[in-house]
This record gives sequence, structure tokens and C-alpha cells, in this order.
Amino acid sequence: MPIRKFSEKNLTAEVLQRIRKTPDPRLKQVMTAFIRHAHAFVREVKPTQEEWFRAIQFLTETGQWCDDKRQEWILMSDTLGVSMLVDAINYRAAGGATQSTVLGPFHRERAPEYPLGSNIAKSPADGQPCEVSGTVRDTAGKPVAAAKLDVWEAGADGFYDSQKGEAMNLRGIFRADAQGRFRFRCVRPEFYPVPHDGPVGRMLTATGRHPMRPPHLHFWITAPGCKPLVTHLFVKGGRYLDSDAVFGVKPELVVDFSKGADGVSRVRYDFVLMPEKPSAAKRRPAR
Ligand code: BEZ
Ligand code: FE
Repeated sequence: MPIRKFSEKNLTAEVLQRIRKTPDPRLKQVMTAFIRHAHAFVREVKPTQEEWFRAIQFLTETGQWCDDKRQEWILMSDTLGVSMLVDAINYRAAGGATQSTVLGPFHRERAPEYPLGSNIAKSPADGQPCEVSGTVRDTAGKPVAAAKLDVWEAGADGFYDSQKGEAMNLRGIFRADAQGRFRFRCVRPEFYPVPHDGPVGRMLTATGRHPMRPPHLHFWITAPGCKPLVTHLFVKGGRYLDSDAVFGVKPELVVDFSKGADGVSRVRYDFVLMPEKPSAAKRRPAR
């Protein structure tokens, strides 16, 4: 076969033609889109060789910052809004279900399980006292007995436990009671910066952005037969609600953490879980 004449115009089609025999159809779809978008990006931006090399250095460095404690790629995805887009596509809250938001990198497996009413803060120095209570129900309004609520938060110093060492603090697992009720104590959430001493921090500074997240409390709620819900409760009136570094704020999740005369902030929230599978009526095609 004669060697084909190189053509800038036809290069994208030629690369796509080369992967046409990819046996896995999903991989073929993903690779096709990736090649098309990567080529379109380069055609639009027209990087110099030096810029392209700097881009590759930046991506390399982003990988080099990752270890079992730090996931710079998740942070990159979060701060570019990609994590929220993936979440929006995969969790379409319907039937009055609670809205989801970003998981973030600070969830830890095997947090301690506590009886209802316990305090997840080990020391008064962790922050101002706060009480959280509410219910977990399904979209039919039925209490979800024994729903598992995995909760975690940063301390008043702006750090999660895992950023300071191995000891677990300010996180815990609770089981809702037979009526779907839960309650626990914690510290009043404060705003804090996402880790910004690495490549993501440089990207934020270079694009005129701050690294701050508004005050929030994380929840991961699971129960048999229900779709897992990963979400936060945000503190109404908190700073940075309108410019969250990871685009995670949804108005439905912003709630009153009103401070009582006793100095304790209290919040109540009723979570609604979606069924794991859409109901038979919804699955049936419209006639
Ligand atoms: C967090 O809320 O814990 C978080 C979310 C995304 C990136 C960094 C932190
Ligand atoms: Fe957080």
C-alpha cells in the first residue's frame, strides 16, 4: 500500500478510522469522543510546542501529587465542575427526592458507628456545638428504618481529620430508628479551602479563583432498595455559598443552622431517598 499523504485536515478522521475495530462498543464510543474533542481543542487553541510541553508537565505533576491521602485528579475534576456534571447525569432527583452533591476526597471507609444522639466531635476545641436531627423517608413518604447515615465534616480549623493524621474525628455512622428518625451532635460547619498547595491551587490562582468551600456537613445515606444519596447540608448565610470552589451548592440544600441562646446551633432536615430502580409504571414505555 502506498504511504498516504499527511493532511492536517484529515488527521482526525484517520485516527478515528484506526480505532474502528475496537471490540468493546462503550470503549469505542468513549475513545471516539475523546479523540474528536482532543483534536477540536488543539485546532481551537493552536498551542505552541512549548505550551503543549507545559501542559504535559502540568498533567504529569497532577498525577505525581496523588497518593493514598491526596487525590489531585479528583480535586481537578471537582474544581472544574466535572464531578458535579457526572453527578447530575447519574443522580436525577425525582419525586421530591433530596438533591445530591459532590462526594469530595475526605470520605473515609470504616468510620466509627455511634448510637443516635452521640457527638462525632472528640473535643470541645473542634468547634462550636451543633445538633442535627431529621428523618429519612422514601419518595412514597414511608420512613426508611435503619437507613445508614455516614456523616463527616471539617473542624473549625478548616481541616479534616485525614489531613492531620490517622486518628478518626468529626465523622461517624448512625442508623435511623424504626420511624426513620436520626439525630447526632457535631460542630457547626465553617468555610474552609480545598487543598490548594499543588497544581490545582496554581490553576485556581492563575484563573483568578479562590479555593474556598462554603460551610457544609457531608452525608452519604444508604438503605436496601434505595439509591445511595451523597449530599451536604449547607449553612444558610455562610460565606462562599455563591462561589463554591467545587460548584456543589444547590439551593434546596441550604438550611438554617440557627444558634440557640445556649450557644448550640440546631438544624433539622428530612431526607428523601429514591428507589434503587424506577418503578414498573415509570419503566413502561409511553403509548
Ligand atoms: C469537601 O467538601 O470535602 C471537598 C469537596 C471537593 C473537593 C475538596 C473537598
Ligand atoms: Fe467538605
